[in-house]
Amino acid sequence: MSDNRQWAREAIRIIEADFQRSADTHLIPLALPGFPGIELYFKDESSHPTGSLKHRLARSLFLYALCNGWLKPGAPVIEASSGSTAISEAYFARLLGVPFIAVMPATTSREKIAQIEFYGGKSHLVEDPTQIYAESERLAREHDGHFIDQFTYAERATDWRANNNIAESIFQQMRFELHPEPSWLISSPGTGGTTATLGRYVRYRQHCTRVLCADAERSVFFDYYLTGDASLTLAHGSRIEGIGRPRVEASFLPKVIDAMVKVPDALSLAAMHYLAQRLGRRVGGSSGTNLIGALMAAQQMAGAGESGSIVAILCDGGERYETSYYNQGWLKAQGYELSGLIDAVAASVERGEPVPDTVLRANI
Ligand SMILES: Cc1ncc(COP(=O)(O)O)c(C=O)c1O
Repeated sequence: MSDNRQWAREAIRIIEADFQRSADTHLIPLALPGFPGIELYFKDESSHPTGSLKHRLARSLFLYALCNGWLKPGAPVIEASSGSTAISEAYFARLLGVPFIAVMPATTSREKIAQIEFYGGKSHLVEDPTQIYAESERLAREHDGHFIDQFTYAERATDWRANNNIAESIFQQMRFELHPEPSWLISSPGTGGTTATLGRYVRYRQHCTRVLCADAERSVFFDYYLTGDASLTLAHGSRIEGIGRPRVEASFLPKVIDAMVKVPDALSLAAMHYLAQRLGRRVGGSSGTNLIGALMAAQQMAGAGESGSIVAILCDGGERYETSYYNQGWLKAQGYELSGLIDAVAASVERGEPVPDTVLRANI
């Protein structure tokens, strides 16, 4: 066996051993008094060792790259990221003893940059968020490294049929609930990989579950879903870290999504604050986006006289956003005034009132 193959073999053993030592993430019920007969659960991906749903993706991307023969001992791994993926990849790079460089927008939270450094990775910040891809390719060329490229490979690196992917884990954990087969799964798109896994899994397993994808304000995914125009671009990056993209990513698969909504950023952040109050701990902005998606699904079900369950993804915890989303001075400086919107989210959850009509919707 060649030295490189021997090294890859040991690297895969190390990742599999790490997986064996890890536990599954929790499924947390959240009562919806305004929607009797409808049960909501959050799949709490913040409880992974590196704090977000990207732990699953980073593991899959490293295994995919190793099994394709793309990684070499000592050669750096480079990634374009809004931060969460880079934290998880820095963790896996350190496990394997390879250098790691994250190429990220300069607006990435300080807490995320510190976490990447904590795992021994380096951050390379770019002013223009649309340049993270080209800059990653350049660094990979110059350092004889590998651009691991979540935005291309997220959908195919994950085993969509099973292998304890996020969808299989949700269905296993729902087995003894009142409504074990969720009516809706709710997720929000960064790469689009999580949504792709959910959508493919429910089709493959012949479930009736529908997948709702909740996009951010500064993002092209919703418009792409409506128009099919893959050339759409935006000049600005998303303000909800981790989700919303300025270009259509290859891992975003519109055909496995049953409905889509586009949530104004202020409403996502209001929902995030409301959710944090209800759970007694802070969560990230995209979990707020998903709560709005879940309320839209609950409204649809209530309108159709359906009872059943909804599962939304809690993507990451709030400790990464202490100096931004949870800082009153920061919110004010960004022009966010959230108190009225937090009341509106509470009115929807607690009394079943419609969420503000600023949410754009498709197929729901
Ligand atoms: C905090 C957070 N939420 C949600 C997502 C979206 O996940 P996916 O890339 O699978 O679409 C990401 C992706 O980076 C994220 O960082």
